[in-house]
Amino acid sequence: MPELRCISCDSRFSDQEILYTCPSCDGLLEVHYGEAEIEEKLDIDEMKSLDLGVWKYRPFLPCDERVSIAEGATPLYEADRLAEWVGVDELYIKNEGGNPTGSFKDRGMTVGVSKALEMGLTKVGCASTGNTSAALSIYGAKAGIDAIVLLPAGKVAMGKVAQALMHGANVISIKDNFDRALELVREACNEKDIYLLNSINPIRLEGQKTIGYEAIEQLGWEVPDRIFLPVGNAGNISAIHKGLTEWKEHDIIPKLPKMCGIQSEGSKPFVEAIKNNKKKIAPEGEPETLATAIRIGNPVNGPKALNAVYDTGGTAESVTDQEIVEAQKKLARLEGIGVEPASASSVAGLKKLVEQGEVQPDEKTVCVTTGHLLKDSEEIIEVCTPPTEVEPDLQTVLNHI
Ligand code: F0G
Repeated sequence: MPELRCISCDSRFSDQEILYTCPSCDGLLEVHYGEAEIEEKLDIDEMKSLDLGVWKYRPFLPCDERVSIAEGATPLYEADRLAEWVGVDELYIKNEGGNPTGSFKDRGMTVGVSKALEMGLTKVGCASTGNTSAALSIYGAKAGIDAIVLLPAGKVAMGKVAQALMHGANVISIKDNFDRALELVREACNEKDIYLLNSINPIRLEGQKTIGYEAIEQLGWEVPDRIFLPVGNAGNISAIHKGLTEWKEHDIIPKLPKMCGIQSEGSKPFVEAIKNNKKKIAPEGEPETLATAIRIGNPVNGPKALNAVYDTGGTAESVTDQEIVEAQKKLARLEGIGVEPASASSVAGLKKLVEQGEVQPDEKTVCVTTGHLLKDSEEIIEVCTPPTEVEPDLQTVLNHI
C-alpha cells in the first residue's frame, strides 16, 4: 500500500488515514509508493500500449478507478503560429480545457473521489475559485455522494458556478476571498466528517501529475526543456514535478523539464518568493486579478512548488492582466485554442521570459492551458468588441462587412 509522508519531518502514515497535513508538525504530506510496489505493478511496454487517460498510469496512482467520466487524454497542439508570436522555434500547448468539466481538476477529482469511495466516505468538500468546485460537484454527482463547495462571493466566473449548481452541489458563497474560504472549509470538513478535496489533499494531486506523463507521451517520449503553467494554490506545478521525478527514478525518462510557474501581477506571492530565493512564501492579503482562477494570496502548496522550481532550475514570473488578455486572444486567434484568462498566463509568462533573454528560442516548451474559454464568458464580453446590432436588411449587412 502507498503511504503518506510528511515532506518536512518525514513522519509516515497509512494512506487509509484521513490526513491533509502532518499531525506532528503540520507539514505537507506526499503519497509515497514503495519501490517494490511500483516494480510489481509496472510493465512499461504495457503502459505505453494503453490509450491515453489518467488511469493508464495506475502503477503511479494511489487507488483503483471507482468513478470516471473519461478525464485526461487532452490534446497537445503544436502551435507554430503562436510560437512565432512568442519568439520560440517550437511551442506545444497542452490544453486541459479538453477535460470533461473543462479544466485539469478532473484529473485530481477522478482519483480523489475514487479514494473517498474506497474509504466508504459519503461527503466531499472544497473551497474554490471555481474549477475545483465544478469538478468536485460533477464527480460527486457521478459517484452518488454529497458535494459541499465554498466560493468567494462575486469572484467566481459564472460558468463554474453554473456547473456546481446544475450538478447538485451544496454551494455556499463566502463574503471574503478564496484564502478565507479555504480556512473555513478545512475546519468545516473536520467538524462534519467531509472529505476535503482541495489540493492540500495529497491524494488528489496524484491524479494531476498525469498532465506531465501525457505531455511527454504525446511528444513521443521526449522530455521538453520547460513546462510552463499558471500558479494559484500551487498544487498543479507540485504534482507534475512529483510525477516526473517518479518517472525519472524509474528510468522512464532521462531528465526533468524546468518547471516554470506564472502568476498575475496582482497576486504573486509565489513569484516573489522565487525571485528572492526564499524557502517560504509570504502570503499576500489582497490578491486581485481578472484571472479569478488564480486570485490567491496564500498558496497552500508553497513548499512543494518552491521545491519544484528550485529542483529543476526553473523559474517564476508575473504578468499583467493586460498581458494575460493579449495571450488569451493570440491563443484563440492564431491557434483556435479558447482558454480562460488564468490559462493564458502560461503563454504570457513564456513570452516575457523570452523577451528578457531568460528563455532561449531553441528551448522546447510545453505551456499548460488549464481551463476552457467558456468557463468565464463575462470576461470575454469585457475584453472583446461586442457584436454590432443592425437593421435586418441586406444593404445594411453588406455595409458592415
Ligand atoms: N488555472 C486554472 C484554470 C485554475 O482553476 C487554477 C486553480 C489554476 C490554474 C492554478 O492551479 O492552484 O494548482 O496552482 N484553481 C483552483 C480552484 C484554486 O479552486 O479551482 P493551482
